[in-house]
Amino acid sequence: MARNARFAKGMLAGLVAAAGLALSIGASVASAQTPQQAIQFRKGSMQVQQWYLRILVQMIKGQRPFDAAVYLKAVTTLEMLSGSVSEGFIPGSETGDTRALAEVFKDSAGFRAAVERFQGEMKKAVALARSGDEKAMRAEVPEIIKACDGCHERFRSR
Ligand code: HEC
Repeated sequence: MARNARFAKGMLAGLVAAAGLALSIGASVASAQTPQQAIQFRKGSMQVQQWYLRILVQMIKGQRPFDAAVYLKAVTTLEMLSGSVSEGFIPGSETGDTRALAEVFKDSAGFRAAVERFQGEMKKAVALARSGDEKAMRAEVPEIIKACDGCHERFRSR
């Protein structure tokens, strides 16, 4: 308990320091991030998602041992990234070095629905991982893939 409290205090101090740093960087830049930075951000995030999805796929295909802790880390990371997935699609980032279709910006309700579907799926995957039910955890991986591909089919060019 006391250790947790100390840990929480340390975390808080770290967050306060990080916020201070962010503010000072913000003050020197004093403008929004550019469309090119947004495109790099979303592609980078997608690459990280691909990394963790691949681990899950390899586990259910028997290409790596099933490991509940590795599974939990992968889905927790994906769940976290699902929370910021829409942030990279800022106005002005429709064009450039991108495969995002114009639909992302034209059908923002549809895009939001695809983001929410992904977020919901990842919340479910984390809950299953915490339950430790291996069969359910395995069955969840194709559902995650469907949430990724469901969005790609409609909002990403080939
Ligand atoms: C809500 C929509 C949406 C969801 C959900 C989504 N993606 Fe994407 N993804 C996109 C769009 C749009 C692009 C094109 C981005 C660009 O080129 O600017 C993309 C691009 C990618 C790319 C190519 C990145 C690059 O370097 O060009 C990969 C890999 C990828 N997604 C993997 C995933 C994985 C894995 C998941 C699920 C775990 C996922 N995506 C979920 C919309 C989505």
